[in-house]
Amino acid sequence: MRIFIVTALFVSAFFTYILLFPPSFLHSEHVYRDDEQRGLDEQIVINFSHVVAENTPKGLAAQKFAKVVNERSDGKVKVEVFSNSVLYSDTEEVDALRRNDVQMIAPSFSKLADLNEDWLLFDLPFMFKDEGEVEAALNGQIGKSLQASLKKENLKGLAFWNNGFKQMTSSQKKLAVPDDFKGQRFRIMPSEVIKKQFDLLDAKPTIAPFNRVYESLEKQEFDGQENTISNIYSKRLYMLQRYMTISNHGYLGYAVMMDESYWNSLPPDVQLLLSNAMEETTAWMWEHSKGMNDQQLEKIKSESSIQVHYLTEQERDKWKQRFKPLYTEFQKRLTKDIVEETYKK
Ligand code: LMR
Repeated sequence: MRIFIVTALFVSAFFTYILLFPPSFLHSEHVYRDDEQRGLDEQIVINFSHVVAENTPKGLAAQKFAKVVNERSDGKVKVEVFSNSVLYSDTEEVDALRRNDVQMIAPSFSKLADLNEDWLLFDLPFMFKDEGEVEAALNGQIGKSLQASLKKENLKGLAFWNNGFKQMTSSQKKLAVPDDFKGQRFRIMPSEVIKKQFDLLDAKPTIAPFNRVYESLEKQEFDGQENTISNIYSKRLYMLQRYMTISNHGYLGYAVMMDESYWNSLPPDVQLLLSNAMEETTAWMWEHSKGMNDQQLEKIKSESSIQVHYLTEQERDKWKQRFKPLYTEFQKRLTKDIVEETYKK
């Protein structure tokens, strides 16, 4: 009995000592540092989450932005990029930003229509002739008004990024005239305009997140989809499709953003550094995104047997004719100034 009491006293004294004076190898937060890591405690880490592959305009711009910030901040700020929906899918990323689980995202305009339906302007087919027209709209009143709509939602718009125009693909049939779409099942982004566009073509549209497109085409849950060349190429969607129409019908752009409260919590010198890096990255991405899409179209043609059809002017007129109810409806629904500004061009 005495031995038992002595042992118990010894054991409890040992653990009390360990608790009071833990040896260094038991410090769970112990970090080995060298001189270069001085100031690690104050480092601001910005996690930038997006859903596309790295070899796309958005993927490369995100990396470039991170590189510029990391180099110029001298270790004070670190931007970490998470691509391919590894952290959050497109249906989750705005909420993740608001919860401060990530600090930066760049969703496509179509996915912001829940916040303000003016974003749908860019989904209206053939609304903009080329990327120059889109860029002018985003740099002008339309862009200002969209940025203001983000502010109302406590979101800080940092830039508009470009991925150019979308093309149509199908595993079933060449898509030249509106009747070719009849009965085919298409994956779409969560946009009322895109849904109505396919309804008017007598097709069957279903919303699906971007990270499920390849898998659902493979399982033949859909016959076709619409996207930019860089998304079709980088996700290898063209391997599962037999026909592609270069239609350039709808625009795909991104709103790069942070949560406004998070942005306001950053020191002014860091805000300035981020704004400058964003301006430089945005100019670079608008300059290179079209070339990237053009090059990847050539790769698709050489790496696969997909049949590529270029929509003729007559065919485009037939599509536009079919989409008339869409133009009429959204001309009434979108903010008057935005519609007038668009039609002025
Ligand atoms: C899509 O869902 O097809 C695109 O918005 C993905 C993206 O971010 O380019």
